[in-house]
Amino acid sequence: MSLSFEGRVVLVTGAGGGLGREYALDFAKRGASVVVNDLGADTKGGGKSSAAADKVVEEIKAKGGKAVANYDSVEDGEKLIQAALDSFGRIDIVVNNAGILRDRSFPRTSDLDWDLIQRIHLRGSFLVTRAAWNHMKNQKFGRIIMTASAAGIYGNFGQANYSAAKLGMLGLANTLAIEGRKYNIHCNTIAPVAGSRLTETVMPPDLVASLKPEYVSPLVLWLCHDQCQENGGLFEVGAGWIGKLRWERSRGRIVRQKNQPMNPEAVRDQWDKICDFTDATKPASTGESLQSMVSVLLQLESQETVGANPTAASASAVSTSGINPAIGQKLPPSTFNFNHIQCILYALGVGMSTKDPDHLRFLYEGHPDFSCLPTFGVIPSQAAMMDGGLSSVPGLNIDFTQVLHGEQYLELYKPLPTSGELTSQATIADVLDKGSGAVIILDVNTYSRGELVCFNQFSVFVVGAGGFGGKRTSEKAKAVLPPPQRAPDAVVIDSTTRDQAALYRLSGDWNPLHIDPSFAAMGGFQAPILHGLCSFGFAARHVLKQFAANDPSRFKSIKVRFVKPVLPGQSLQTEMWKEGNRIHIQSKVKETDAVVLSGAYIDLHATSEASPENLPQGGGLQSELVFEEIRRRIKDLGSELVKKVNAVFSWEITKDGKNAAQWTIDLKNGGGALHKGPYPGKADLTFTVSDENFVQMVQGKLNPQKAFFSGKLKARGNIMLSQKLEVILKDYAKL
Ligand code: NAI
Repeated sequence: MSLSFEGRVVLVTGAGGGLGREYALDFAKRGASVVVNDLGADTKGGGKSSAAADKVVEEIKAKGGKAVANYDSVEDGEKLIQAALDSFGRIDIVVNNAGILRDRSFPRTSDLDWDLIQRIHLRGSFLVTRAAWNHMKNQKFGRIIMTASAAGIYGNFGQANYSAAKLGMLGLANTLAIEGRKYNIHCNTIAPVAGSRLTETVMPPDLVASLKPEYVSPLVLWLCHDQCQENGGLFEVGAGWIGKLRWERSRGRIVRQKNQPMNPEAVRDQWDKICDFTDATKPASTGESLQSMVSVLLQLESQETVGANPTAASASAVSTSGINPAIGQKLPPSTFNFNHIQCILYALGVGMSTKDPDHLRFLYEGHPDFSCLPTFGVIPSQAAMMDGGLSSVPGLNIDFTQVLHGEQYLELYKPLPTSGELTSQATIADVLDKGSGAVIILDVNTYSRGELVCFNQFSVFVVGAGGFGGKRTSEKAKAVLPPPQRAPDAVVIDSTTRDQAALYRLSGDWNPLHIDPSFAAMGGFQAPILHGLCSFGFAARHVLKQFAANDPSRFKSIKVRFVKPVLPGQSLQTEMWKEGNRIHIQSKVKETDAVVLSGAYIDLHATSEASPENLPQGGGLQSELVFEEIRRRIKDLGSELVKKVNAVFSWEITKDGKNAAQWTIDLKNGGGALHKGPYPGKADLTFTVSDENFVQMVQGKLNPQKAFFSGKLKARGNIMLSQKLEVILKDYAKL
């Protein structure tokens, strides 16, 4: 159906020519009563004539339309609106279009050049719109157009005055859009391009003739129609094309540390990151803008400092050593997409072969039990660390050629899928000072469709970065365990090939140390060395075969310490001791008898034990997993959280409209706790939400504020505390 403006009263300012004339004609053609305003000034704002407006009114009337002329300046805003009321009894639509130019290079811009431009464009639009506002508000309908310009959006030589006024109008529109919303008053801004007397001085005549005002006008009509719900938009329009603009903001960087002054050097050092638009966000309100600042405050607040009580001397050593990362600092989340090819390539990388028929389930995607080797779980999480992850941490100015992989822990919560998308979130769990070097403990949670699949802990040794007065041990570190003092229960000897590292690196560890002889020589090695995680993969699959019949669902966790390098082509001897469901491991290079993996062990699920996949998940509730993750975090960081949060939150989880579970996070008492079921005490804030919506919120797919306003999330108690809750869910569940 065609868009009609029957019954609507429209004021178009500066409608004696150019774009304004076109709007006036078009509105009138579609039934509107139009006030054709034009002062009849020259392009610089001088002179006055009624001829321009009269001519357009005549044109409209000749075609059977309704129009009256008005010759006042937009600086007399009330009079323009009065003209509409006098002639047609109401005002529905205001198109702020009147304009002049007084172009000068900036130093030559006089006070008058400046003031006149602000007065006509910005102040004029303010006065006219303010005069119309209450009428629109009372009738619960209003449509306002502001006319900005590319010169304002992007800047243009010689138009400092005009650019400032034009973007000022956008600012005005942004706020009117917010204030008008509840009265059905919408305000949008256009930056048009059209041939007119204003542009004929700057554009070649052909272009002036081709860029017709009629290629702009339909956007204005649409934005002013009842059906159009657009509000607060900014559009570039010309030549029959329309595009919408919005703000984009880089992810940015936090450049200060808790309790330390912010300085320009830190800004300089992070400049590239501050200005990097990768994964940029698009904030659309001051609320969103402020929210990110508040979350920075909360994030900084929850940081620990390195060393419990650094003395002045050690504190200065910390800052000079280059290792002063915020513990608890998150690395950018990373996404890992894979399919059977990566699984098979990894299996080949850790020495699986079709020579062993029972390896086929890891090498052939058509195998009925085709599976991913459990230790593949290190690959996606390593990607989180490698893709610039560690180097993005403020305060972690380490020499990456001096980094050694010290230890690794991996725990699976369910068997790995053989394809899909995994998301990993890495956190600096702790930083230790070992004198000769620093150890960075990095915890990585990896999720598949929001479900926690595995947890990795990397211990990274940075040679030469110690001596900053930090602690030597961490309760967060997963410990290595010595093997029993008896002969091993099983020994498997397996040769690596000359190309083992060349093959393994295709799974994602591209460090030239493992392929480039000259690079290896620089590191003091006689030849490129095998990846520590490759030997780790060898050892793990030896255990899986020996004690779990190659059943990946039996695998629970593995811990190893990397002691010495292995050269591709050497044979690995894995010695295994079974102690219940724990298999202790030691790996040696057979040719040299050198221990390469020590203190290592694998925990298996007992045969009778159901695999975690089959465990009942709280009556099929997805939220159960999130709470279990929170429970783990409270165990690790409980007292710290109690200090920061000091509140009790209850969650009533519903499923299919019925109460399905209740969880209470107590971050007030003792070292913090998670309760399942009815809570004996009093919660400070209680939420009721469905299982699906809860998980969506934690995954960041559902905005909690929106959920609250749409009734999907109900809350009772001290709502202000929800700020803190976001920190817990975001930082500690991190799905
Ligand atoms: P135009 O010069 O043809 O139209 C502007 C009209 O405003 C004139 O008829 C003029 O007499 C009138 N006017 C000037 N001062 C007035 C006042 N104090 N009170 C009432 N009327 C007054 O120019 P055009 O190109 O049609 O421009 C329309 C609007 O679009 C202006 O705001 C201009 O800045 C803006 N614009 C135009 C672009 C283009 O490519 N034509 C580019 C970017 C913005």
